[in-house]
Amino acid sequence: MDNDIERVLYSREEILQAAARLGKQLTTDFKDKKPIVISVLKGAILFTVDVIKEMDVYAELDFIDISSYHGGTESSGQIDLLHDLGTDIDGRNILIIEDIIDTGRTLKYLIDLLKQRNAAEIKVCTLLDKEEGRAVDVKADYIGFSVPNEFVVGYGLDYKELYRNLPYVGVLKPEVYTS
Ligand code: PRP
Repeated sequence: MDNDIERVLYSREEILQAAARLGKQLTTDFKDKKPIVISVLKGAILFTVDVIKEMDVYAELDFIDISSYHGGTESSGQIDLLHDLGTDIDGRNILIIEDIIDTGRTLKYLIDLLKQRNAAEIKVCTLLDKEEGRAVDVKADYIGFSVPNEFVVGYGLDYKELYRNLPYVGVLKPEVYTS
């Protein structure tokens, strides 16, 4: 897989350091709030595992599977809810964990859904924030790295369902998705 990567943006060590930094802040901010941590499948799974181990608070963990890229390099604009939460979130404090916020459409869809279900407080932690890609007005509260407007894979992020298991985030060589 390394041969398909133009350059590494964030190494495993840098990502673990970011998770530790964010986990420390989240420990302070979520003390006594007993949050439900919602990991947005599939991309956020690797980062979620790192961050929750750094959070020294009582927290529940749940998953939701939302997809809009359908394997390609650009958001389709159509959001599909593939697997719903198993927890009643009425009145609960929520921490969403994402791998990347790009157009922001996935996050907006999820925040709207959680608000409809009467969540008390919704905060967002993302490994990567691609601000240049934003099409709707959403923001993360906790950010690992701000990324340039390039197509990145690894550490949960895929191209056609591959590269999620790369232990770093890197820029995919354009010839991989143009050929
Ligand atoms: C990716 C990523 C975010 C979303 C961000 O998910 O995991 O959830 O896209 O993009 P946006 O800000 O433009 O909406 P994807 O639809 O690829 O599903 P996946 O996590 O299963 O790969």
